[in-house]
Amino acid sequence: MTAGGGSRPLLEVDSVVKTFPAPGGGRTRAVDGVSLSIERATTVGLVGESGSGKSTLSRCVLGLQRPDSGTIRFDGVDIGTLPARELRRLRSRIQVVFQDPHGSLNRRQTVRDIIAAPMLAHRAGDRAKRAARVRELLDLVQLPQRMGERRPRELSGGQAQRVAIARALALRPEFVVLDEAVSALDVSVRAQILNLLKELQHELGLTYLFISHDLGVVRYMAHQVAVMYHGELVEHATREELFSAPRHEYTRILLEAVPVTDPARQRDRIRRLSSATTEETSP
Ligand SMILES: Nc1ncnc2c1ncn2[C@@H]1O[C@H](COP(=O)(O)OP(=O)(O)O)[C@@H](O)[C@H]1O
Ligand SMILES: [Mg+2]
Repeated sequence: MTAGGGSRPLLEVDSVVKTFPAPGGGRTRAVDGVSLSIERATTVGLVGESGSGKSTLSRCVLGLQRPDSGTIRFDGVDIGTLPARELRRLRSRIQVVFQDPHGSLNRRQTVRDIIAAPMLAHRAGDRAKRAARVRELLDLVQLPQRMGERRPRELSGGQAQRVAIARALALRPEFVVLDEAVSALDVSVRAQILNLLKELQHELGLTYLFISHDLGVVRYMAHQVAVMYHGELVEHATREELFSAPRHEYTRILLEAVPVTDPARQRDRIRRLSSATTEETSP
């Protein structure tokens, strides 16, 4: 299941900062000194309002963006110091599923080709081996084999997301980032995909970084929960601790807002928090 082993966390993020040029000049601190570790075969839920830095942090973890400072260790290896070739090999062990199931699939390809694409890119196996692996993956995500001939437009949202998951698992990764992976799905389909992800974690010993703005979903999925607010990690606790005794004011506001039915009301709460924290910190 894992190459490394021992009791060391699979992922160790240490003091990561990532900035971008801000529209009005200066720089936005999208990720502002975040430290976080994830144990093997567990799920860390990462929550926070839109723009709090969740995706930026995940892109750093995926090796798609380089932090300004700080380190990210995967299985004990600092990914910032790896030569391109080894980074590429390491990337096959870390995969991602995004929010928009249709948008992330190539419209011209069949499901079979979409799922086989990472194997082709990494030159894994020959034609027959790849075909066999695609059959296995369709079974794994509980899609009938005949779906392999379909194209993305012929799939429902849930089916398309199963294809995205199959593709993410093609290279037998140990770590999967799920960035709002169920946010675009209807409630009943969402539950099915969450259950599938849980089964896959059990079966394959996967480690997840499960990103969502929806605390209800995170509560269902995550062993540990990390809360981001304006680029900072303001709370990191076990699911039980977080939901029974949230320590940070922003976490309490998020909890109050579950389920978030009215975005305007949530914005209002966040505004209230911003002024509350300003008041608290001013002398
Ligand atoms: N490539 C980029 N260029 C400029 N600003 C960016 C870029 N990516 C993210 N940001 C900014 O960084 C902040 C965090 O964004 P993001 O990580 O997407 O948050 P989240 O995923 O929590 O919604 C936002 O202010 C966003 O506008
Ligand atoms: Mg995001």
